[in-house]
Amino acid sequence: MSETTKRSTGQHQVKRDSFTSSLGMMAATLGSAVGLGNIWKFPSMTGTNGGATFLFVYLACTIVVGLPVMISEIMLGRTVKANAITTFNKLSPKKQPWGLVGVAGVVAAFLILCFYTEVAGWVFAYIFKGISGSILTTDPKVASDMFGQLISNPLMSLVWQWIVLVLISFIVTFGVSKGIEKVTTKLMPILFCLLVIVGIRSMTLPGASEGLKFLFAPDFSKISGTVILMAMGLAFFKLSIGMGTMMTYGSYCRDDQNVPMTATKVMLADLMVSLLAGIAIFPAVFAYGFDVTAGPSLLFVTIPAVFASMPFGYLFAIIFFVLAAIASTGAMLSLFEVPVAYLSETKQMSRKGAVITTALGIVILGAPAALSHSLTADVTIFGKTFFDLFDFLSSNIFMPAGGLCICIFTGWVFGKDRIREQLSNIGKLNNGGIISLFTVLVKYVSPILVALVLLNMLNVF
Ligand code: TRP
Repeated sequence: MSETTKRSTGQHQVKRDSFTSSLGMMAATLGSAVGLGNIWKFPSMTGTNGGATFLFVYLACTIVVGLPVMISEIMLGRTVKANAITTFNKLSPKKQPWGLVGVAGVVAAFLILCFYTEVAGWVFAYIFKGISGSILTTDPKVASDMFGQLISNPLMSLVWQWIVLVLISFIVTFGVSKGIEKVTTKLMPILFCLLVIVGIRSMTLPGASEGLKFLFAPDFSKISGTVILMAMGLAFFKLSIGMGTMMTYGSYCRDDQNVPMTATKVMLADLMVSLLAGIAIFPAVFAYGFDVTAGPSLLFVTIPAVFASMPFGYLFAIIFFVLAAIASTGAMLSLFEVPVAYLSETKQMSRKGAVITTALGIVILGAPAALSHSLTADVTIFGKTFFDLFDFLSSNIFMPAGGLCICIFTGWVFGKDRIREQLSNIGKLNNGGIISLFTVLVKYVSPILVALVLLNMLNVF
């Protein structure tokens, strides 16, 4: 995706480009979906929320709610071909405030970037720690101390976050997302293969079967409101939906793209990566006696341990964190694109100005999050540190609420006739059955489920 900015007679015009091929659109979308969510959030949340039961609920949320929202977003974005806020404003009947959903999306993008850039910073730091060889240990205590030292150092936390921000800003400014997308498409299969290798090593460790049981044998008595809320939040976070990212990417999508098919393939591929990460991590957690409920540190203590116990582990560890850094970069680019597209298209800002504004916003708002394991560790709001609060607010409130509005908007305002026209590419595709199913989901099933989860969180029941 690239944008050419033309300036003439002081007027700021943006000529919109589109993805050049159907595969390019899929790669970009997958590049946004696959990220730290798969290798960091998915395992840590599965670990803290009871394993297989959580996985099962997450799967259900992804299929019944995530996919319809993703299809809706891409479709709405493609219809209007503008940033998320403009998309809502243009499609909304007069005097209805749907544009606010887009505004909430831009706010959510900031919230996510505040903590995401921090975790990405840890990943970048681990590349260098990998090179020094210091992370390769199978001793749980040494491994967690090492990670603890990194995140409790205020200066290092900020510096790594800023390094990530500079990198992302640089790439987004030059509009070379085409470059990075090309790189991501080539490297994503390598990440996949590497996860398979780590997975096999992890599964063949003595005592690994406990880990597989933890991941795949559900105990349905463990389903609770919290499990459902968390799983729904992860489903939104994973597919980059509920806050305008997919809408923005949809706006660069070609008119001949098969939207439901693309979204389904992206969802499945993304799920595969998460499952592979789970298979790489959980057997090792049990084999080495790490704590499954360790949360965010899981990736940084267990993955190095698995590498430490295999031949050429030193090299694999470095490659792994490089690939994780690349995956997180693809996701961050898509997050950045939401405020940048909005600012540059509606606020008379150049792309560069929009990027600098966004980056500065994250430097300011992101600092308390980055320092949440050191200087601001004792500052809590609703019992959560800034890091956890931003994570919670975005995944569990902004995105589901945004997703709910997107479903209602698509099903009831955009309406079934336009859905049929758009999803069949004006009758060119023969996918009537899928469209009917989608319409029922988006009008009734998905919004009701999301509303129930949100109401449950507010303790209405
Ligand atoms: N899906 C990405 C991941 O799993 C993160 C991400 C990118 C995202 N863009 C987003 C999350 C938009 C929510 C909204 O790492």
